Amino acid sequence: MRLILLGPPGAGKGTQANFIKEKFGIPQISTGDMLRAAVKAGTPLGIEAKKVMDAGGLVSDEIIIGLVKDRLQQPDCQAGYMFDGFPRTLPQADALKDAGVKVDVVLQIDVPDGEIIERMSGRRAHLPSGRTYHIKYNPPKVEGKDDVTGEDLVQRDDDREETVRKRLDVYHSQTKPLLNYYSSWSATGEAAAPTVKVISGQGSVDAITARVFDALG
Ligand code: AP5
Ligand code: ZN
Repeated sequence: MRLILLGPPGAGKGTQANFIKEKFGIPQISTGDMLRAAVKAGTPLGIEAKKVMDAGGLVSDEIIIGLVKDRLQQPDCQAGYMFDGFPRTLPQADALKDAGVKVDVVLQIDVPDGEIIERMSGRRAHLPSGRTYHIKYNPPKVEGKDDVTGEDLVQRDDDREETVRKRLDVYHSQTKPLLNYYSSWSATGEAAAPTVKVISGQGSVDAITARVFDALG
């Protein structure tokens, strides 16, 4: 299975990616997680990316496309993969297509802006694994600790309300058009065109997992 997860910040892409990963045995390629790892490691890329991420903007297409192409060379990607948070702009989608990277399904998880703000303020993350929790909707077994490793959870620097609002603006202007991009391509019926599915991301985490699995067949 080769999958793209689309949806606004806070839609639950990362949360659902964890379940998809387990069920289908495919790696999650999260450009956000890759950038946060670079920030943590203090690499030149990480230092540059942190400024952009904290302001709610997008890291340059060139850098992101390079990261993804390198990641796809890894052996664990040969039998399938799931993109989370990529592509995010039309040039990124074009680059993927031009490189001949196959995609079977594009799955959009929709959540209205109003609900996103509340989700982000309660989010807690385990940065090394990318696992996320919510203090009210998806709490860890032990407060402040990751379920798997027992390590500390943190609040992401870009989850401040004003940054979230900026990220939502960027999503609507630059990323949302990708749904039309893939729908139009799908409608051509070309062999390489992906199937496009849209589901609501409102409801319990379990209810959404059921919708995701149903959509993925
Ligand atoms: P990235 O890490 O990709 O962030 P995002 O796309 O904005 O998405 P999030 O990770 O914020 O949300 P999510 O959909 O994964 O939701 P989650 O499952 O955590 O990118 C961060 C930044 O990196 C970008 O702003 C940009 O600067 C840069 N970047 C990354 N990729 C890039 C690219 N391709 N090009 C350029 N720049 C790039 O859930 C959110 C919260 O809600 C959690 O607390 C969760 O527990 C909770 N929750 C989940 N499901 C539910 C539910 N059903 N009900 C209630 N709460 C729920
Ligand atoms: Zn995420």
